[in-house]
Amino acid sequence: MVKPVLKWAGGKRQLLDEIYSRFPADYGRYHEPFFGGGAVFFDLEPADGTVNDTNPRLVNFYRVVRDEPDALISRLREFRDPEADPDDSEAFADENWKGKAVEQYFYQQRARFNRRAYADEEWPATEADRVEEAALLLYLNRTCYNGLYRENSSGGFNVPIGRYADPDWVMADRVRAASRALDGTDIRNADFEYVLDAAGEGDLVYLDPPYQPMSATANFAEYSAEGFDRSDQERLLATVERLDDAGVYFVLSNSGVMYELYDDAGFAVEKEGATRSINSDETARGEVDEIVATNVPEGERGEQGQASIADF
Ligand SMILES: C[S@@+](CC[C@H](N)C(=O)[O-])C[C@H]1O[C@@H](n2cnc3c(N)ncnc32)[C@H](O)[C@@H]1O
Repeated sequence: MVKPVLKWAGGKRQLLDEIYSRFPADYGRYHEPFFGGGAVFFDLEPADGTVNDTNPRLVNFYRVVRDEPDALISRLREFRDPEADPDDSEAFADENWKGKAVEQYFYQQRARFNRRAYADEEWPATEADRVEEAALLLYLNRTCYNGLYRENSSGGFNVPIGRYADPDWVMADRVRAASRALDGTDIRNADFEYVLDAAGEGDLVYLDPPYQPMSATANFAEYSAEGFDRSDQERLLATVERLDDAGVYFVLSNSGVMYELYDDAGFAVEKEGATRSINSDETARGEVDEIVATNVPEGERGEQGQASIADF
């Protein structure tokens, strides 16, 4: 049972028991196509399988955690307190690329992170570059306001400095534990449909697509979050139908408005009142209607999960 390394929007720690209660008692490999913070994966520590996310910075991060935990920890130990003075030996010690004054170390690191050419095909080019990229992501994730990773429309990370008495951005024990949990796991950077090739009969797939809290009157057709829109939701339903045809178990979390879609498709669907731990809209925090849909027959479900109240 490992705790997630990154704080991530839509983190699933509060819902672990509801999710586990649908898991089959026995299954082959485990796959998680929308990895994010990986709360379920890290808690479960499956022996073998795949994880995936479309976010290339996130995927680089987990590959570095898996393959080079000690290099990552060493680099993180060199970072300064977020409120310290900028480091004169690094770029943006005085002003950022827009000419705006940089007065705190946090904003210097944010500028460095944002100027990295991560969309390039060759990115990140070298091993040192991969470690630097991963270290920056964890440092900013742990020192920014609310631990919220958010990109604006042009791909910039624009969250301000957080207020923490004693922030821990190294988390050496957690990084090492996560590294062990990821050992033997294939980490992909693709669209979720890769799972149609990756998962075989008897495997288990847990899917947690991006979604935002919706009011009861919200219209499915207008729904879009993190670029995940109605057509993606339709592809997702088609994907789990194909998994079902292939004898693959799936458990899927989704927004409450998707209830009928999965019910009409003949899957077992239940509503869960859940609290998303982080939401991009401050005012929308609170109780959210979520569903969990699955093709796992009740008679094949296992024991209640591993998470206990003491862990929260
Ligand atoms: C709700 S989050 C998953 C949260 C995760 N369960 C946790 O505990 O932190 C959804 C993730 O899906 C990723 N994503 C968005 N579109 C995707 C796509 N088409 N295929 C795969 N991943 C996608 C996002 O980058 C995001 O990290």
